[in-house]
Amino acid sequence: MENILVTGALGQIGSELVPALRVRYGEDHVVASDIRMPPRGSTWDSGPFEFLDCTNRNQVQEVLHRHRVDTIYHLAALLSATSEEKPHVAWDINMGGLYGVLEVARQNRCAVFFPSSIGAFGPTTPPDSTPQDTIQRPTTMYGVTKVAGELLCDYYHRRFGVDTRGLRFPGLISYVAPPGGGTTDYAVEIFYEAIRHGRYTCFLGPDTRLDMMYMPDALAALVALMEVDPSRLEHRNAFNVTAMNFTPEELAAEIRKHVPAFTIDYRIDPVKQSIADSWPNSLDDSAARREWEWSPRYDLPAMTTDMLAKLETKLLGGPARS
Ligand SMILES: NC(=O)c1ccc[n+]([C@@H]2O[C@H](COP(=O)([O-])OP(=O)(O)OC[C@H]3O[C@@H](n4cnc5c(N)ncnc54)[C@H](O)[C@@H]3O)[C@@H](O)[C@H]2O)c1
Repeated sequence: MENILVTGALGQIGSELVPALRVRYGEDHVVASDIRMPPRGSTWDSGPFEFLDCTNRNQVQEVLHRHRVDTIYHLAALLSATSEEKPHVAWDINMGGLYGVLEVARQNRCAVFFPSSIGAFGPTTPPDSTPQDTIQRPTTMYGVTKVAGELLCDYYHRRFGVDTRGLRFPGLISYVAPPGGGTTDYAVEIFYEAIRHGRYTCFLGPDTRLDMMYMPDALAALVALMEVDPSRLEHRNAFNVTAMNFTPEELAAEIRKHVPAFTIDYRIDPVKQSIADSWPNSLDDSAARREWEWSPRYDLPAMTTDMLAKLETKLLGGPARS
């Protein structure tokens, strides 16, 4: 292998993916990039960082050449709620960025990882145990860009032989970087508020069931998919992956096992609620389990225990509960 480029590296996933890739492949082999600059004197200094707008194809090409990149983890995108606020910008970044990255990858024979989402499904998709191959008629701009992205990655593989691979992530829960404007952000915010104030006002209704995953499992899935022998891949792009699914009410009950006085109330955001209502309740990820042995480690109780412990250390400097 030569070198890896990560776009959108300062976001929720990249903030943990870059350090994990640097441990695995060597600090100098992983180039982080974003349209924001990392704080000085931070862990980002451990390896190369480039200011890179993924919609600027010449800039992507130049960085690729200079760092002899052969694999791109293309994370830069606007997330679901932000994409509904700014659909035109979302199209430019999510589609324009991906198209440019795939073109540069084709010209330079790079592999590309593309993260799709449960947002690639819509209200006519079978909502329970949603199959790998099924109806995809999303009603959000985010979903439109994710389905189109999945298809474009398939096309670049079939037509040009580009080694594209991808996952349909559910909502990701993590404590390092804040979530970036998605419909599942509540499942991260609730932990911060439980520790800081003992209560949380949720923007989704109490019975809104969605798939979720803890970040360590998301990173493991990414690495496993990118390292698997490609001859084993029948689907290649857009694998359904999930680890758990729950409603806000169920998550609150789990948190209450650790923080007994925790309370939740609801002030529903109609835009986010309608996005969530258009997504599946639970995914069938048997294709990923079969083709590259996907198997998550964290369920709801294990994730909740670890999140609270890690966030208490981060926010309070140590455990708040005995
Ligand atoms: N976090 C989730 O729950 C989740 C779930 C499913 C899929 N995904 C997908 O994973 C990818 C990364 O998600 P995330 O949660 O880390 O997102 P995020 O919003 O936290 O981070 C995205 C990063 O992209 C950067 N960015 C925005 N425009 C850019 C541009 N033009 N050029 C370069 N960088 C730009 C932002 O500065 C930000 O740091 C996205 O494609 C997202 O759709 C995320």
